[in-house]
Amino acid sequence: MKIKKICCIGAGYVGGPTMAVIAKKCPEIQVTVVDLNKERIAAWNDTDVNNIPVYEPGLGDIVAEARGRNLFFSTQVDEAIQEADMVFISVNTPTKTYGEGKGQAADLKWIELCARQIARVSTTDKIIVEKSTLPVRTASTLKDILSHTGNNINFQILSNPEFLAEGTAVEDLLSPDRVLIGGDPSPKGQAAVEALVEIYSTWVPTERILTTNLWSSELSKLTANAFLAQRVSSINAISEICEVTEADVNEVSRAIGSDSRVGPKFLKASVGFGGSCFQKDILNLVYIARTYGLNEVANYWEQVIIMNDHQKRRFAKKVISSLYNTVSGKKIAFLGWAFKKDTNDTRESAAIYVADHLLNENAELSVFDPKVTAQQVYTDLDYLGTRESTKNASLVTVTKDPYETCKGSHAVAVLTEWDEFNSYDWQKIYDNMLKPAYVFDGRDILETEKLKAIGFRVYTIGKTQ
Ligand code: NAD
Ligand code: UGA
Repeated sequence: MKIKKICCIGAGYVGGPTMAVIAKKCPEIQVTVVDLNKERIAAWNDTDVNNIPVYEPGLGDIVAEARGRNLFFSTQVDEAIQEADMVFISVNTPTKTYGEGKGQAADLKWIELCARQIARVSTTDKIIVEKSTLPVRTASTLKDILSHTGNNINFQILSNPEFLAEGTAVEDLLSPDRVLIGGDPSPKGQAAVEALVEIYSTWVPTERILTTNLWSSELSKLTANAFLAQRVSSINAISEICEVTEADVNEVSRAIGSDSRVGPKFLKASVGFGGSCFQKDILNLVYIARTYGLNEVANYWEQVIIMNDHQKRRFAKKVISSLYNTVSGKKIAFLGWAFKKDTNDTRESAAIYVADHLLNENAELSVFDPKVTAQQVYTDLDYLGTRESTKNASLVTVTKDPYETCKGSHAVAVLTEWDEFNSYDWQKIYDNMLKPAYVFDGRDILETEKLKAIGFRVYTIGKTQ
């Protein structure tokens, strides 16, 4: 089965970049990315590729190459579904904020809406690809909804979870460690798997394209994120021991990471992991385990989140205790707001929670992030609902200049590991701060000795002061 037209529902951080790369690599396939969000689609269609809604190194060039040729962004969802042989579902699957499973289960409202829309408008056979991260066995729900159209259309469901990381999305998509495709064992199911394998094999070596059953594929995505997040929580737990024992967490990471069974990646201690997925996917795993009555399994994975919350809180507490146990009315400068460098995404960023904690103590915050807008910072804080938005607006300022952000502050806190922070004129920053001037490096990216020589008091995550 040769795929000629693809529709992707959801033009977000995954749908946009993934489809741009498929369109680049398969010019003979027409790829249409649709979304209900008109502003988002308009931004994807902006003639200036610097204005596309997702900031990812290299993405602008790919969009510029393929857009208008075989890559289209549209709000005409029905038409795009109708025309397509293959429909990717790449909509958001956040943690439920209401009802049964509130705070843990994945909210599959948008997934179900997509399935019902596909069922309603389809007039030809289609392969439906789960690109969103979903609880194991979601494909059976999709199958059930799609099998009740009453018009004899054949739908095959595939699971093709996405493993890209933000900030390196293009690199990850062009050269993935693996592509995972789960399908039904029936001949029709396997033909669908083959059709998707054929698309990816245009640029991904076939030995890196793994095929499994549907359930293994769905569960592997949750498992992969749980393992990655677990490594971060594990090294963060060790970072706290380092701070009281004169061990250095970087040295410990290097020592354990040199064991090929452990490996060196994802062992960087931090102020806590963020991002839209780690927490939500682990909570989802915890919920699934509890649903099956597997309480020990649920408790085991829940600990990863508990540790992460602790890491964010203890960073904020460190700032407060260092500043003589009160930050009320004191200006604290935040360098970084995104959940990691090279992205404008702030979802679940550790910075938000550290800020919230400090604002509870009436601190005055000044924020600088190279890619995050002031509006986004306020939206993130307001979303927590901890205090009135007028209070957030009065306690927090956001500037476009890091020196302005740090000027007149008691302390600078590094929340995101943007490379440029290290290249700042730290003498100039010091000169314009109140004394004693503190730096709290939550990412261990600054040159501690240099800062100490200037006169700063420096706290670095995972190091005894
Ligand atoms: P996102 O919120 O950036 O984008 C989702 C888009 O879907 C939104 O623009 C929304 O308007 C649109 N949408 C929702 N319902 C719709 C409908 N019925 N019709 C049309 N459009 C609709 O989300 P994202 O970060 O791209 O994540 C999407 C999925 O991919 C999630 O399940 C996530 O867990 C998973 N994932 C994300 C990442 C990542 O790095 N962000 C990586 C791997 C997997
Ligand atoms: C993560 C996974 O790496 C992707 O494979 C997955 O597709 C994606 O989640 C998803 O499902 O959404 P992402 O969240 O974009 O990708 O970014 P990561 O590089 O994994 O970083 C996540 C968080 O962990 C960041 O806040 C980062 O700063 C933190 N981190 C990461 C550490 O604190 N230490 C590390 O060693 C690594």
